[in-house]
Amino acid sequence: MTGLRLLAGPDLASGAESDANHSRRLGAPKLSGRALIEALASSGLTGRGGGSFPVGTKWRAVAAASKGSPVVVVNGAEGEPQSHKDRVLMSTRPHLVLDGAFLAAHTLRAREVIVYIGEEHRAARAAMDRALAERTESERRIARMVGAPQRYVAGESRAAVHLIEAGVATPTTAPPRSHERGVAGAPTLVQNVETLAHVALIARYGDAWFRSAGRRGAAGTLLITVAGGVKRPGVLEVEAGTTIEEAVAMADGPSGPASAVLIGGYFGAWVAAAKAWELPLDAAALKTEGFNLGCGVVGVLPAGRCGVCDTARIMRYLAEESSAQCGPCFFGLRALSDACSRIAERGANRDEIARLKRWVVEVPGRGACRHPDGAVMFLRSALATFADEFAAHPAHWRQQPA
Ligand SMILES: Cc1cc2nc3c(=O)[nH]c(=O)nc-3n(C[C@H](O)[C@H](O)[C@H](O)COP(=O)(O)O)c2cc1C
Ligand code: SF4
Repeated sequence: MTGLRLLAGPDLASGAESDANHSRRLGAPKLSGRALIEALASSGLTGRGGGSFPVGTKWRAVAAASKGSPVVVVNGAEGEPQSHKDRVLMSTRPHLVLDGAFLAAHTLRAREVIVYIGEEHRAARAAMDRALAERTESERRIARMVGAPQRYVAGESRAAVHLIEAGVATPTTAPPRSHERGVAGAPTLVQNVETLAHVALIARYGDAWFRSAGRRGAAGTLLITVAGGVKRPGVLEVEAGTTIEEAVAMADGPSGPASAVLIGGYFGAWVAAAKAWELPLDAAALKTEGFNLGCGVVGVLPAGRCGVCDTARIMRYLAEESSAQCGPCFFGLRALSDACSRIAERGANRDEIARLKRWVVEVPGRGACRHPDGAVMFLRSALATFADEFAAHPAHWRQQPA
């Protein structure tokens, strides 16, 4: 391990690092403007909010958009129930996130920086508020905080723009994308808080330094949340390319035998433990295996816990959390969730399973945002990983705490 980067510095238990300490420890960023965009492109940094989109490409698109001075949205909604990494980062290294945000504003000549934080993440919000008060007057003048409602879809980029514009955190269903026309019609860069913290370090140490961490061909480090059946659940910074087994070992190992791992959170995939251990935490490598790094959740399912019941619970959550505006969510996710619940409650039923397999093919690619696609990818992985459990499920839903 090359060592911590985002989480280097004072002990996390000591809370938010002050501006004075942060500046003394890291010095001032050296790159901005075109040089920073090029460094981001060659670093290979990808977004950490779930989509793993190349950061340099997105900044180039916003810089090239011709319609007025852009807006930067700092996405700290962190609506994924299993993920804690963004709130830990904001609570302990707020100036790293703000550095990235103001570097983006400076580089893109943005008129406004909007810090969008989940309303339930009170400690993170307070730390970011205090950190903002420590910044320069010119930075404070263009920045404001906006609370994100506690909804799964509130962190989706167009939902964030819609909330900022109209107070409604549902994704808008019409094009164009936010980077072309977002807040107040201006090109809008929506970037996850962890992504911006990496930007702050690349602006100091460069793209080659970013790539100097990483294993098995992957670049950089990433924050992950290790949850479920491990001895020490929590947030870790690992080198990209670290295997799931190595990450779980860093969480002091599994708390007992594991049957599967949920990789990437609720938009991710269940993978049988034997296969999951060797998979690398790297967006590109996981994609070649048909999986998704998402927001870096590694959820270990203990052998005694029912995968079908957990799948039914999560599908119900995802169906209820959609904004119910488009057919694939309003009809599709609801029907899929109901079928999963019936299997969990009343026991295995071949017709229900056949229906699920038919429907998961019909839902993707038809919503205005990726919510139904993520939910269906999750369900498909459950049908494959827990095929035997679905086929032989007993007639009672084992209520298991989340
Ligand atoms: C339903 C849904 C929920 C999302 N929630 C979040 C979130 O809580 N935080 C986040 O950073 N990105 C979230 N995203 C991804 C954002 O739409 C967007 O891609 C991201 O903020 C861009 O930043 P990044 O490129 O730095 O990851 C969500 C996407 C979807 C489809
Ligand atoms: S696809 Fe689903 S979550 Fe996304 S905008 Fe449509 S109804 Fe809302």
